[in-house]
Amino acid sequence: MELNLSKDHIILPKTHRSMYLMHKFWARKPYNVVSEYIRKYTSENDVVLDPFCGSGVTIAESLLLKRKVVGIDFNPFAIFLTKNTIAQVNLNLLNLLFSALSDRVVSKIAPFYKTNCPYCDNPAIITQSIWKNTQKDSEEPPNEVLDEIRIKCPNCKLRNAQIDKKEFSDFYKSEIKRVENINDNYQEFQQTLGIDIPTFQFKYKNGKYYRQLRHHLRNAPKLEQLFTKRNLLVLGLIKKEIQDLNYREYKEFTFESGLKRDIKEIDFEKAKDLLMITFTANLGQSSKMVWVISKRKKKKLKKREVGSWTHHFLWNPDVFFEVNPWRGYKTRFRKTKRSKNDYKIRLKQKRIEKVEVAESIKGFNQNNRRNVLLLNQSSEQITLDDETVDYIFTDPPYGDSVQYLELTSLWNSWLGNRVGYKNEIIINKNQNKEEKEYSSKLYAVFKECYRVLKSGHYMTVTFHNTDLNIRNILISSVTRAGFKIENLIFQMPPRNSLKSYLHYNKSPVGDYFIKFKKDPKFLQGRENLKSKKVKPLILKRKLNEYIEHVLLSRAESTPAILLFNFIDEFLVEENYFPLKNAKIIDKIMEDLVNSERYMVTKKNEWWFAKKYKPDLTNKPLSARIKSYLERLENSEEYKSLYNQKSKRKTYSNIYNLIYREFNGILTPDRRATTKIIDNVFFKKC
Ligand SMILES: C[S@@+](CC[C@H](N)C(=O)[O-])C[C@H]1O[C@@H](n2cnc3c(N)ncnc32)[C@H](O)[C@@H]1O
Repeated sequence: MELNLSKDHIILPKTHRSMYLMHKFWARKPYNVVSEYIRKYTSENDVVLDPFCGSGVTIAESLLLKRKVVGIDFNPFAIFLTKNTIAQVNLNLLNLLFSALSDRVVSKIAPFYKTNCPYCDNPAIITQSIWKNTQKDSEEPPNEVLDEIRIKCPNCKLRNAQIDKKEFSDFYKSEIKRVENINDNYQEFQQTLGIDIPTFQFKYKNGKYYRQLRHHLRNAPKLEQLFTKRNLLVLGLIKKEIQDLNYREYKEFTFESGLKRDIKEIDFEKAKDLLMITFTANLGQSSKMVWVISKRKKKKLKKREVGSWTHHFLWNPDVFFEVNPWRGYKTRFRKTKRSKNDYKIRLKQKRIEKVEVAESIKGFNQNNRRNVLLLNQSSEQITLDDETVDYIFTDPPYGDSVQYLELTSLWNSWLGNRVGYKNEIIINKNQNKEEKEYSSKLYAVFKECYRVLKSGHYMTVTFHNTDLNIRNILISSVTRAGFKIENLIFQMPPRNSLKSYLHYNKSPVGDYFIKFKKDPKFLQGRENLKSKKVKPLILKRKLNEYIEHVLLSRAESTPAILLFNFIDEFLVEENYFPLKNAKIIDKIMEDLVNSERYMVTKKNEWWFAKKYKPDLTNKPLSARIKSYLERLENSEEYKSLYNQKSKRKTYSNIYNLIYREFNGILTPDRRATTKIIDNVFFKKC
């Protein structure tokens, strides 16, 4: 059946809602964008497939639209997270299990974090400590010195108060003693508590270390290097106590109202899994990767702040927070509950009573109520029948940008999941995978996607990589598998990422949404599957015209990184994909920039060379954006700039409106636009 659909257009991404904030995951797709695509390309009860499902946004959004859905990911953690995201749970039962866990944990962690308040001598809790590594030579083992202690004292009503090192030097001395004792008797503590701490090495079977390790971890690539011994013990204890929660003890459950209910084992296990995902969600903030923020806006902070693990690597910052893991766990648990509540509300709004996970493909195919199938396997072989899928929405790994297996090892190792690297689709020298392996593995997946998708149906692939060469590899592996490329949309994310500021010229600035079709007629012309041989002179002429068109439309100098991102749209429109060698584009761009036509500013922005006077009919883009924002003040849309909770205008809301108005080749430069927004709305110069 042929689907007759309108052209895709920009969908303004919303920030993640609570149901997706239960756990960190890299490059989670905005739920509303995913939902709109699924809504457009499918009808109720159709089958959606995501062969790289990651944290499961496609899976949950498909279910919320009453579609059947298959999610595949080779990484067991991704499947575990997806399963927990779509789990329906009785919140009362979840609370009950949490308080049972709390009863078991709190008394046992007293030797690690309980203290007496140095002000009133009443019982208090250590909330955070700051440690400083004085060993600068990363080849040598770290030498960590206690720099600051913070406590909670109910009696003095202190919540996370800094204790002065000089004034309370005895308090510090006794804390140092406590930690030394824990470090010296680490094995005995493990035995007494009856716990097993995972001993995991960040090392591949081929003997090579993980690529994304920094500082001391490079020389001692072990999980235990990421935590203080005290936190390893407390974490080990929390994990053990979750595992020890036994169904038989909770078979009968009494609500607060006194009403008794029998609990099904399956519901009990779901709640227990949620306690476990809360545990892994808390690992990053219980580790030594919690770096210390000591300055804001170039000013030294009186109270240093907790930085979180936003990096794409595992590391040991020189100064770090040791956060009490049980306090962190409680905070994460609130997020888990919020997430489940949000999901419950959404299901209710859609009048969906039950989400049932099929145990097998047979169960999924034969039972219409089993609306979701999750497969923990490589998508190089998809165990679905030919032509059984109505739509594919997927977000494949981005070349070498995010090392999912390496990063998720923090969670997988604690869960006891041993994950072989053979199946990961990635570029990573240490896994012996270069572009060639990446390309052939992607090709294998898309060949399977082609097989299982119904004829005349569509696949949307989203992608995020600044390197055109990698984008070309992706597109060519899809087209070689038989798909026809229909269109491509370039879209900016809803908010500024810290990373995009730090690596302004390197990091990806936006996402691509590429629409492919399974069109058997297209496949008949086998020529279509081959990479295009391009005539360099013609390509150069056309690209030159295109760049000129972009600059004239924007009527101002344009960051090179944006120009390079726009080129894909041109290549699709002109039917140049897949390119035999994408490097030709770099070469042509280099020629163009060295030609008399253009110049590149110090800020790496392109504009016409001085002697070439362009015929400008448009106002400069930034002036157009400024007038647009000024006009907004008197419009209906003005309200949408405000965050409903904080009642303040937010940058992401403002950006969203700007991107709706100025997109495609008019997508504005992030930095320049922030200045305009500041000027118009926040009266900053
Ligand atoms: C870019 S992420 C997907 C993120 C997802 N869109 C989300 O919103 O969370 C790519 C995923 O592909 C998975 N992956 C890598 N190789 C795979 C393979 N051979 N088969 C299935 N999944 C694979 C990774 O584990 C990762 O979760």
